[in-house]
Amino acid sequence: MKKELIDKFGRRVTYLRLSITDRCNFRCFYCKPIKDFKYIPHEQILRYEDLLFMARVLREYGIEKIRLTGGEPFIRKGFLSFLEKLREIFENIYITTNGYFLKESAKELKRIGVKGLNISLDTLDRNLFERITKVDALDKVLEGIEESVNAGLNVKLNSVLMKSNIEGIIPLIEYGAKKNIPVRFIELMPISSEVRKEFLSEDSAKAHIRKRYGFIPVKEKFGVGPSKYYKIEEINAIVGFISALTHNFCETCDKIRITSDGKLRVCLALDDEVSVKEAILKRDENALIFVVKKALEKKPLSHNMSLESIISGKNMYQIGG
Ligand code: 5AD
Ligand code: SF4
Repeated sequence: MKKELIDKFGRRVTYLRLSITDRCNFRCFYCKPIKDFKYIPHEQILRYEDLLFMARVLREYGIEKIRLTGGEPFIRKGFLSFLEKLREIFENIYITTNGYFLKESAKELKRIGVKGLNISLDTLDRNLFERITKVDALDKVLEGIEESVNAGLNVKLNSVLMKSNIEGIIPLIEYGAKKNIPVRFIELMPISSEVRKEFLSEDSAKAHIRKRYGFIPVKEKFGVGPSKYYKIEEINAIVGFISALTHNFCETCDKIRITSDGKLRVCLALDDEVSVKEAILKRDENALIFVVKKALEKKPLSHNMSLESIISGKNMYQIGG
């Protein structure tokens, strides 16, 4: 039998988002609730050697791209050595990070051969940055971005759209243009926390941008995800939108997610997770693939997220975005 992973709607799964830790030094309000959040106990987190076994098996079954997420992946000890070993399995390694630790590791990431970095940057306003993340770290993140660009890494910025930051949209676009990096605006997803009142749609953001700049759709893809891109020729900016709520992209979904404690999630919006941990710990390739294939039968054609129906089970820091 051909070694591949296909869901029941014929979508081939080629992309794994692997959350290696649920810990993060920030506390973005849309990701991590202020109180009552619980980290996964250390002993339940898969070790790097376990993750490498899993990566090797999934690579054989057609996973071509792997994205490491958190929490904040750079928080986990030994992350760079892990990347080095993972690079022997995957040519296409991407990382999603809050940027805080990049200044120290950018050169090393380039040497290892990381394909792309998505750095979260919601605003350039220092006070608002602190209000969103609870940490006064804008300068440190900007240094991380600059160091990464200077190291020659392929960088994109991820910016969550929110009402409080509508005036911050144009400055972010101009910053991206100046640094020659695409900025992607992400619609806030109603995952657990009380985020509804901050929701700003892609269309409202576009209307706001149009008051200042004209922009045209471009066919090129600047990343591996579901973003649609536009160009502002006047300042040579590339702007993307990822809008799970108003322009859902489920039809072409090629993704699965695995959490740091070995739970497979076939859709971001489906709380129904299955554990791949036992198969991994036993180093049982067949059992691992059996569980993954069985879970894929449940991958829905489309998510059912809406501003009214909030996903209840987990928060984003536990899933990795
Ligand atoms: N809605 C949209 N994006 C989110 N992220 C985290 N939580 C949410 C949410 N509720 C984003 C972060 C980061 C990526 C991991 O996911 O800003 O860019
Ligand atoms: Fe941390 Fe990213 Fe979540 Fe913010 S969105 S708390 S930076 S994991």
